[in-house]
Amino acid sequence: MAKAAKAKTLYTCSECGGQAPKWTGQCAACGAWNTLLETVEQAPSAHRFQALAKSSPVRRLAEIEASDVPRFTTGVGEFDRVLGGGLVPGGVVLIGGDPGIGKSTLLLQSLAEIARERPALYVSGEESGAQIALRAQRLGLVGEPGAVGDLALLAEIQLEKIQATIDEHRPEVAVIDSIQTIYSEALTSAPGSVAQVRECAAQLTRIAKQTGTAIIMVGHVTKEGSLAGPRVLEHIVDTVLYFEGDTHSSFRLVRAFKNRFGAVNELGVFAMTEKGLRGVANPSALFLSQHEQSVAGSCVLVTQEGSRPLLVEVQALVDTAHVPNPRRLAVGLEQNRLALLLAVLHRHAGIACFDQDVFLNAVGGVKITEPAADLAVLLAIHSSMRNKPLPKGLITFGEVGLAGEIRPSPRGQDRLKEAAKLGFSVALIPKANAPKQAIDGLKVIAVDRIEEAIDRVRDLE
Ligand code: TYD
Ligand code: MG
Repeated sequence: MAKAAKAKTLYTCSECGGQAPKWTGQCAACGAWNTLLETVEQAPSAHRFQALAKSSPVRRLAEIEASDVPRFTTGVGEFDRVLGGGLVPGGVVLIGGDPGIGKSTLLLQSLAEIARERPALYVSGEESGAQIALRAQRLGLVGEPGAVGDLALLAEIQLEKIQATIDEHRPEVAVIDSIQTIYSEALTSAPGSVAQVRECAAQLTRIAKQTGTAIIMVGHVTKEGSLAGPRVLEHIVDTVLYFEGDTHSSFRLVRAFKNRFGAVNELGVFAMTEKGLRGVANPSALFLSQHEQSVAGSCVLVTQEGSRPLLVEVQALVDTAHVPNPRRLAVGLEQNRLALLLAVLHRHAGIACFDQDVFLNAVGGVKITEPAADLAVLLAIHSSMRNKPLPKGLITFGEVGLAGEIRPSPRGQDRLKEAAKLGFSVALIPKANAPKQAIDGLKVIAVDRIEEAIDRVRDLE
């Protein structure tokens, strides 16, 4: 029996690109350890990255006409927002998130909307056609030809067959759910291995650039929350999105981490309902827990996510430690930053926590990475220590420096306006963010230093 010639495998170093015919623990070219990955040897004529950027003559930057990229909507407003306004033809989007968080649901909803106007293809390597049809029915997406839900479905895991289908059907949008289940004939390793994921992602990207099909790939995440598979995955694609949120609550956030066609840190907010994911158009007060009375250890922060402000409650619990090493635990906020802020609190405001456990939480499963949360963290900790609630209607934001100074946060005006709109009455903010014109219904207290901030809170009580 004649067997089709298998492409020769080679081992390529992920650090320097050096190649070896056999796997070794150390790369012979650069000396790095454990960096050799299985790849296929490619004939020079079929170089796989050739199509990523079409070769063209050298030109002067000033001569090139800058044209805005055409975009089309995904049919889901909040999804459009994170993408920077919609999908771009030939663009490749990678969307990662925990299992069961709603990746397949969102993409099925979006694709069903897109399919009203353009040919769309949903490739599933995880679920059968019947399972997807059942979900579509539950979501109320099944329709007649030409209506919602008229999308092409393919349950397939072999890359070459997917490629042939895309070539034949020429969809404008294709979803690959998920990249870890797809395998290429050219490699011998199992689906989901580093080599397979890398090769399939590179091939799909090439297909997208060649045919102009926008491709959305679903990626699994590791225990640590980053995308499973090689790091190069994030470099190959144009846009990287992550699903965040507490699977116990119904809210889901989609955040842009990298976007060649738009701003990063843009946030899409959804609620998971029995009819699938619903966009939340005005999410600013979503992350406040509802208290009848003010409670100690709680402080409302105005954070800025992409283009809109968001009000988030920061909670702290300070309790006597019964072990020599007191615990410092932060959920949704940065743990290292907490240790640093506690040192600032001690050194500049004379408030010591060395014999106290400190727990910190951002309500609603939201992750806050901006330093503008510092002041809220310290006020919440201080409030919990004294077991005294902060004044009613208080909001805050501002970065705290190592010298105890309070630094301004970007777009202070927008934050203040949002807080006033939601009925907050007092704002404790960095001096440099103080508005020139008074904002209706909002008393602004501008401070320069952490000790001053703490004194002013005491004055308000
Ligand atoms: P799914 O979209 O399959 O998640 P992923 O592809 O990210 O693994 O599933 C999302 C979860 O949401 C699933 O556990 C069931 C639930 N769900 C709803 O609550 N309402 C719905 O309408 C649908 C379709 C799913
Ligand atoms: Mg899924």
